Amino acid sequence: MRRLISRRTLLCGAAAVAAAAAGAHTMAVGKPDSGLKFAVYGDCRDGHEVHRKLVAAMLAQKPTLILQTGDLVHRGNDDAAWKTYDDITGDMRKKVLLYPSRGNHDFGGTGYAERFTAPFTSGNKDYYSFTKGNCHFIAVDVDEHAEFGPETEQYKWLIKDLEAAKKSSAHTFVYFHLAPYSIGSHGMNPEVQKTLCPVFAKYGVRIVFTGHDHNYYHTTRDGVPYIVTGGGGAPLYDTHPDKGAIDGDKYEKVNHYLVVDVKGKDVHVQAIRIDGTVIEKFTVSAK
Ligand SMILES: [Fe+2]
Repeated sequence: MRRLISRRTLLCGAAAVAAAAAGAHTMAVGKPDSGLKFAVYGDCRDGHEVHRKLVAAMLAQKPTLILQTGDLVHRGNDDAAWKTYDDITGDMRKKVLLYPSRGNHDFGGTGYAERFTAPFTSGNKDYYSFTKGNCHFIAVDVDEHAEFGPETEQYKWLIKDLEAAKKSSAHTFVYFHLAPYSIGSHGMNPEVQKTLCPVFAKYGVRIVFTGHDHNYYHTTRDGVPYIVTGGGGAPLYDTHPDKGAIDGDKYEKVNHYLVVDVKGKDVHVQAIRIDGTVIEKFTVSAK
């Protein structure tokens, strides 16, 4: 009996050592049990009524933070537009951290920078990053006024940040305005595809969120899911699958937002229409 007990103790001890080793590895890539829920939307711009409804819908989801993929207002140098934006989002921004990426319509004036008050750990208000739980978030400045080629400070910063995130976080999410893959009015952006998408594939970015085209489009290229979420209020754009959609893509011309639930190595995404119905649900996981 004594021998049995001591053997069991030995086995338990071995299991504990193995678990501790696994735990040590897990700790190195983040905290798997600390779930994180966040919302994503974009291009609210001048669609105030829709924007108001989406803000209420997102708040009801009780996210920890909200990402905005650009074009917060119709004209960045228009004080009245920012006042309306404040009226619609002021309460939300008091309750939830809002992390925007600058769109082409936000350029001009100081309205964008003044309203970006959420804390970040690296970069500046044009491109920056922060970490929450086991997730690392990177906003890149990819709009008509930004430089992002390999020779730029922004590109060098991005590579450095992705390198660090690879070691410290289980998931890296990147978001910006101009979509590399899109089938709306603006369509594909070969420059972003050529310059940035190989980087996202190399570093295993979990999901890339963008806007600019006012609809929903989800595609996966080189193993990286890309989502255009530009249905935040600006006039909706038709979808044109003949612009380069591939098998398995999902798209819809509809006002919507995303809810992303991170649970350990799994990332559950829901794209939700303004009427509360679901466009699609899918899960991507860390390997
Ligand atoms: Fe835009």
